[in-house]
Amino acid sequence: MKAIVVDNQRLLWGEAPQPSCGPGEVSIEVAATAVNRADLVQAAGGYPPPQGASEILGLECAGVVAEVGEGVARVQVGDEVCALLAGGGYAEQVVVPAGQVLPIPRGLSMAQAAAIPEVFATAYLNLYMEAALSVQEKVVLHAGASGVGTAAIQMLNTTHNPCFVTAGSAEKVAACVALGAQAGFDRHQGSFVAAVSEWAGDDGVDVILDPVGGAYLTDNLSVLGLNGRLVLIGMMGGAAAEVNLAQLMMKRLRVVGSTLRARPIGEKAQVMDRLYEHVWPQFESGVIKPIIEATLPLADAQNAHQLVAGNDTVGKVVLTL
Ligand SMILES: NC(=O)c1ccc[n+]([C@@H]2O[C@H](COP(=O)([O-])OP(=O)(O)OC[C@H]3O[C@@H](n4cnc5c(N)ncnc54)[C@H](OP(=O)(O)O)[C@@H]3O)[C@@H](O)[C@H]2O)c1
Repeated sequence: MKAIVVDNQRLLWGEAPQPSCGPGEVSIEVAATAVNRADLVQAAGGYPPPQGASEILGLECAGVVAEVGEGVARVQVGDEVCALLAGGGYAEQVVVPAGQVLPIPRGLSMAQAAAIPEVFATAYLNLYMEAALSVQEKVVLHAGASGVGTAAIQMLNTTHNPCFVTAGSAEKVAACVALGAQAGFDRHQGSFVAAVSEWAGDDGVDVILDPVGGAYLTDNLSVLGLNGRLVLIGMMGGAAAEVNLAQLMMKRLRVVGSTLRARPIGEKAQVMDRLYEHVWPQFESGVIKPIIEATLPLADAQNAHQLVAGNDTVGKVVLTL
């Protein structure tokens, strides 16, 4: 089959072996996939796929079921589906455990559906399951205009959680506010502490979803209120930092590290089931939509990666076949 192959960090439209569909698995003929920040890191030689996962890039897709393995009742050949992948999406065909496959929300295109699984699953898992967010709790989202950020803003609106974003320009902050964030801060203007503290008031912030890591740790801990939770999902600002343990202890803070890709299949299926129950109806009523910056042919993945690396995108870059 045709797939994107990485050759000396260049993404080329080449040949790869077709994956075979085992028991409990679903083979999908891919119509669209989408770029995630992790793909850029993997293409550069970091973030290797978990054991047993495809070496091909691509953490999500939409397409048509081509084959189902023994014991799969969830979908049938010919169904239009989208899926959360541990890898393999940048290809004509991909095989995935059945629990990570969902029907395309009614009314959405293949390109729109391909922009959903990774970022909505990440935002849902970390806000509602890891941080156990309650109604009205205040949330800070770093990289608010990212794929994950734009998914999170919209879900937080539907669960009545005020949110504040940081992003890389006044325009990106404005895009987040248009999506439903209450306020935001341009990260190139210095520390976000004063702006967040003014927004959050005396009680501070309840939950922070942070893909930045080291560079933000001290400031994150300082804006959290009593019983605050910091969920770390990335290290774009470095992996090392010094922690003020007294602050952690006195405010009874919790710091949670979380990755989606390496989780057991059963846990990923649980996240997808929750998305289907709580978020799919919102896609189908149009309350929530995948935010797409651009759509390019999959063979043009190199340009799509450059677009994402430029940090100017709002939401997702989709790749179609
Ligand atoms: N742990 C997990 O399971 C998991 C799963 C999915 C994603 N993630 C992480 O979540 C983050 C967002 O992913 P995505 O695919 O949605 O990303 P994306 O759409 O590519 O957006 C990432 C944004 O992060 C901002 N950024 C880049 N470098 C930064 C830095 N050094 N400090 C602060 N902000 C920086 C940029 O926006 P601004 O310039 O506007 O700030 C950039 O547009 C990534 O870090 C990704 O690795 C983690």
